Amino acid sequence: MKFDVTIIGSGPGGYVAAIRCAQLGMNTALVERYPTLGGTCLNVGCIPSKALLDSSWHFFNARINFRQHGIETGNVSVNLQQMIKRKDDVVKQTCDGVRYLMKKNKITVFHGHGSFIDKNRIKIGYSEGKKEIIEIAKTIIATGSKPSALPGVTIDKLRIITSTEALSIREIPSHFIVIGGGIIGVELGSVFSRLGSKVTILEFLDSLVPGMDRTLAGELEKVLRKQGIEIFLNHKVTGSKNTGKGVTVSTKNKEGVIREFHGDYCLVAVGRSPYTQNLGLENAGVKTDAKGRVAVNQNLETTATGIYAIGDVIGGAMLAHKAEEEGIFVAELLASQKPHINYHAIPAVVYTHPEVAGVGYTEEELKAINKKYKTGNFPFRASGRARASMETEGLVKVLAAADTDEILGVHIIGPRASDMIAEAVVALEYRASAEDIARTCHAHPTFTEAFKEACMDATGKRAIHV
Ligand code: FAD
Ligand code: NAI
Repeated sequence: MKFDVTIIGSGPGGYVAAIRCAQLGMNTALVERYPTLGGTCLNVGCIPSKALLDSSWHFFNARINFRQHGIETGNVSVNLQQMIKRKDDVVKQTCDGVRYLMKKNKITVFHGHGSFIDKNRIKIGYSEGKKEIIEIAKTIIATGSKPSALPGVTIDKLRIITSTEALSIREIPSHFIVIGGGIIGVELGSVFSRLGSKVTILEFLDSLVPGMDRTLAGELEKVLRKQGIEIFLNHKVTGSKNTGKGVTVSTKNKEGVIREFHGDYCLVAVGRSPYTQNLGLENAGVKTDAKGRVAVNQNLETTATGIYAIGDVIGGAMLAHKAEEEGIFVAELLASQKPHINYHAIPAVVYTHPEVAGVGYTEEELKAINKKYKTGNFPFRASGRARASMETEGLVKVLAAADTDEILGVHIIGPRASDMIAEAVVALEYRASAEDIARTCHAHPTFTEAFKEACMDATGKRAIHV
């Protein structure tokens, strides 16, 4: 069997690449070691975590916020089994959707472990011990990532767990300890805090969600603390033990003070590592970098001609939409088109409540490169729509070039930030100035007016509603 393109891994990078290759007329194969398609994102990442974030937010709203809206519910309680079942149903529908798309696009799917025999052949190993060999012309490696481990912490998947186990947990923890205040930590910490667990986040650095603009990180810390989440910054986790009925987590802070935290579950969320296990990269001459990521050039081609790599397995942000963009990029490149990816305009979103979203340069990055900038802010408490919805926490922050007024970065913490950031992405992609957005009509009353007002603030401090 020979294909024009063979893609290893069916996550958002791999399956999107497969569809685009097929659309462009290539005879395409997709190799996936698990029985379902969709990778981390659909099975144990983006989709199930958002399903539980939504369900837990409904519960929190009913318990805490409804009364103020004049809605009396009486006692509300959680049926965790049903909540997890709904999440599983959503995952199944989404994964089945990908299978349908493969069929529709006439993509040949192999469910087995792919590994390079050499530059021209891939072996597909099946669980029952059988194997199959296919000849390859072009190959795209899209094997994604796995949770990173931490020295002194053995993940037993019972009490000391990763996001995968947390998403299918069988009981609501009474005290949920989270190692790492990154994106997974604050999202899953929020889920269990809303469901009634005591949640403690232990973060090594001096801020949550490192990498995002510090203003947002500071605001997020405030709102999460207000929601009852305990946060210990500058606390490096040095070890963790399953004590049978619970867990003990040890930390050392900046001053060298050692502490122990006791809970019933501990989530390890200290980042993810590229997954290239048993892929036979060396057989094909594909090299990895010091961090184990597949090394690629600007065309996302590896050190072996004709073998490309995309998504979490290479460098850059570990985000589903980044993997998708790269999948489309390589497919179009293989079809001799001239695609491009603007990595500067890839948004990042944290699905806490309120949501956090950013695109472009952070203020810290602009300072580091010595770029002169001006800032515009608009708080949601000054937005009529936000008051009507009782969603007044947060702000929009716009960073624009001091000389040209070009928008360099947009950072939002507030209601529907995940959707609002799309306008900022378009602004960055088309190199809009803050003045351009300030002069664009935004429907009233919408949350997006806050973006316009922040741009008005950036251009001559002329926001209307503050
Ligand atoms: P993956 O999705 O990891 O897919 C790789 C696939 O390759 C897997 O199915 C794997 O089984 C398969 N594979 C690996 N090796 C082989 C082999 N040798 N043979 C055959 N198959 C193989 N990102 C967002 O943008 N938004 C979010 O809201 C978001 N939420 C997340 C929540 C959680 C809890 C987690 C863990 C991640 C989240 N992410 C989110 C990150 C996102 O899931 C990843 O960035 C994305 O899945 C990467 O896509 P990928 O295609 O590179 O790899
Ligand atoms: P992360 O990189 O976002 O955060 C890991 C955190 O752990 C960091 O803040 C780090 O300082 C901390 N840490 C490391 N060692 C520590 C120690 N010994 N003690 C205490 N803290 C320690 O990684 P995370 O949260 O595991 O997520 C992995 C990836 O998944 C992210 O890179 C993200 O891109 C992706 N993801 C994206 C989501 C989204 O887009 N909404 C949601 C969830 C995950």
